[in-house]
Amino acid sequence: MQIKSAVFNMSARDLQSAPDWHRPEFAFIGRSNVGKSSMINMLSNKDALAKVSATPGKTQLLNFFVMNESWSLVDLPGYGYAKVAKSEKINFNESVGDYLEQRENLRLVFVLIDSRLTPQPIDVSFVNWLLECKVPFALVFTKEDKQSPAKTQATVTAFLETLPEELAGIPPVITSSSKSRTGRIAILKMIEQALAE
Ligand code: GTP
Ligand code: MG
Repeated sequence: MQIKSAVFNMSARDLQSAPDWHRPEFAFIGRSNVGKSSMINMLSNKDALAKVSATPGKTQLLNFFVMNESWSLVDLPGYGYAKVAKSEKINFNESVGDYLEQRENLRLVFVLIDSRLTPQPIDVSFVNWLLECKVPFALVFTKEDKQSPAKTQATVTAFLETLPEELAGIPPVITSSSKSRTGRIAILKMIEQALAE
């Protein structure tokens, strides 16, 4: 799929203030600093569409981007970042939870996981929560440019082993790097497929 246009539409504090449209949405979630905003920029072929920062906790709102004038990418605030003021943190976690659980146009969630780390409890519990809520998701292991393919594969295997045994089939897995632009085609293919359903 070609990306012909990518335009920032709006930032929302919560589900109630999210855009009132029927565009299919694809959301990006994961720990702070895992590379969600960088990935949106890579997918859009734009360096500064979504704000990237080396300081975790950069994305604080639900940010909606319109792609090819017909569907949307949503950059969500990261979880697991303690320095955000407590009241704000609770607020945003709730907003993200409401959005993921209740947004009717949400087609697929990309859960980003750092390919360099052993399974982090917060990622494991987040994925389990998505399974419980029956929110469709794919796992994207980020920053693979930082290490060997073998190490990335070891991370993927270790993470898949944390999934509940009773799970019928494993979720789709993609490895990626926004720096070397790997994983882009696989992610866009997945979106294209979901749009065709
Ligand atoms: P929050 O908005 O704070 O939750 O973070 P985020 O998940 O949106 O991460 P962001 O895209 O802002 O990236 C965090 C840092 O990681 C930045 O310094 C990026 O340049 C860097 N980064 C992101 N993706 C990659 C990647 O694929 N490879 C490398 N080497 N660095 C990356
Ligand atoms: Mg961000």
